[in-house]
Amino acid sequence: MDADTIQAIKGIAGEENCSTLVADLYTYGFDASIHHRSPEIVVQPRSTEQVSAIVRLANERRVPILARGGGTGLCGSAVPLEGGIVLDMTRMNRIKEIRVEDLYCVVEPGVIYDRLMDALAPFKFSIPTAPGSGEACTMGGMVATNASGMRAIKYGAIRDYVLGLEVVLASGKIIRVGTRTLKNSSGYQLERLFVGSEGTLGIITELTLRITPKAKKAAMIVAGFDTLERAGKCVSKIIAKPLIPSAIEIMDSTCIKAVNKTVKAGFPDVEALCMIEVDGEPAAVEEESKVVQGICNEVGAVSVEFSSDTKQMAKWTYGRKSIMSSLSRFGAGFVSVSLADDMAVPISRIPEAVVAFHKIAERNGVIVGTYGHAGDGNLHTKMLLDPTSEDYWQRGEKAVSEIFDTVIALGGTVTGEHGVGISKAPYFKRERPTAWETMIVIKQAMDPNNILNPGKIAQWEGSILCMLRYPCDKYSE
Ligand code: LAC
Ligand code: ZN
Repeated sequence: MDADTIQAIKGIAGEENCSTLVADLYTYGFDASIHHRSPEIVVQPRSTEQVSAIVRLANERRVPILARGGGTGLCGSAVPLEGGIVLDMTRMNRIKEIRVEDLYCVVEPGVIYDRLMDALAPFKFSIPTAPGSGEACTMGGMVATNASGMRAIKYGAIRDYVLGLEVVLASGKIIRVGTRTLKNSSGYQLERLFVGSEGTLGIITELTLRITPKAKKAAMIVAGFDTLERAGKCVSKIIAKPLIPSAIEIMDSTCIKAVNKTVKAGFPDVEALCMIEVDGEPAAVEEESKVVQGICNEVGAVSVEFSSDTKQMAKWTYGRKSIMSSLSRFGAGFVSVSLADDMAVPISRIPEAVVAFHKIAERNGVIVGTYGHAGDGNLHTKMLLDPTSEDYWQRGEKAVSEIFDTVIALGGTVTGEHGVGISKAPYFKRERPTAWETMIVIKQAMDPNNILNPGKIAQWEGSILCMLRYPCDKYSE
């Protein structure tokens, strides 16, 4: 990027809101994925007008531009593949309106999920999807990746809460899509087009989100099993009852051991466990808790614990949320990396999927920890490997490819809640052989100069082993 463009950006956003310091550029080259690439300038815009003016400039000068939120993404959606401008949206973090009588709120994209939940709590409202990274991820980033979390099984993903958006298009034009009403049959549902678009079609500058009353009570059951398959069967059996809990999480022994070694969550030392949460009216919670415990016993659980004490439930939830970081402490020299990290399969195929993943890991000589939101068929696998070893990465990539082939064969998707970014792009094309070309057509129509987060999703070509953040000569940035 030339000095004149940098100067022009500073003129729009204010010198104090821009940085070209090497340390800042390096830092903004990361999200939480395995990839890294430094941008050439970082800007913290304060208004839609500033975003629009910067995007217009980027379009005129053919400079890549990428908007990011908390940087918690796990597949490289917020890594600026081709350098250029990174817009850090976290300074646009106002909660503009909370209208409980109309069941919506209006926020800027940089609002952090947990802060929005704090603001909604006094009204007894929330957006209950509960992403694992809620304390850091932003609402704009959630919509851009169609994020969700533990409670999606009962309450849906963030897409189910998007009523309307304000978006800056590649030309710099500001448009409004969707409405502030709960229903609209008013033409193409364009707000959905931006959900999961990872900043490739436009930059979200305001969100109108549906809100919903908070559940009055919740309870949890933690059930241990002697095989992961049996835990998977328990999940299907609960749902087929029919009973839709607010969360059903599954964990394999690798994850349980890692968590128990790192934090005091008090999980039983078993081969697999299910952590089930039910919520709603107190009487329903009591009844459903009993039904769930009955099913756990029927399926052959080796331990069943129940609690409706908020402290105990918070302890278990903390344990669950600590899996990812705990896995890195599983073995000396190994780190947990996000490879094949959030596939989803039809719920009843979970037992087959988890057994297949473990076989694939064994065959390729890598350690895979499997856990996730089994209730909605969304699993997380983390690979434990020595990130300085070329050989480990190659084995990891092979395992990823086989895992995704299995997922696709089971009728699943390569990403349930994190997005495509870089790390899932080749497999996404495998999963969507007829759809990805249409996505390219849409991208070309909306961003003819290819400035918005270029190279991602359907545009990606090549192996995922590139621009790695780790010191591995062959694949490092
Ligand atoms: C979780 C993230 C990885 O569920 O999605 O912990
Ligand atoms: Zn998750």
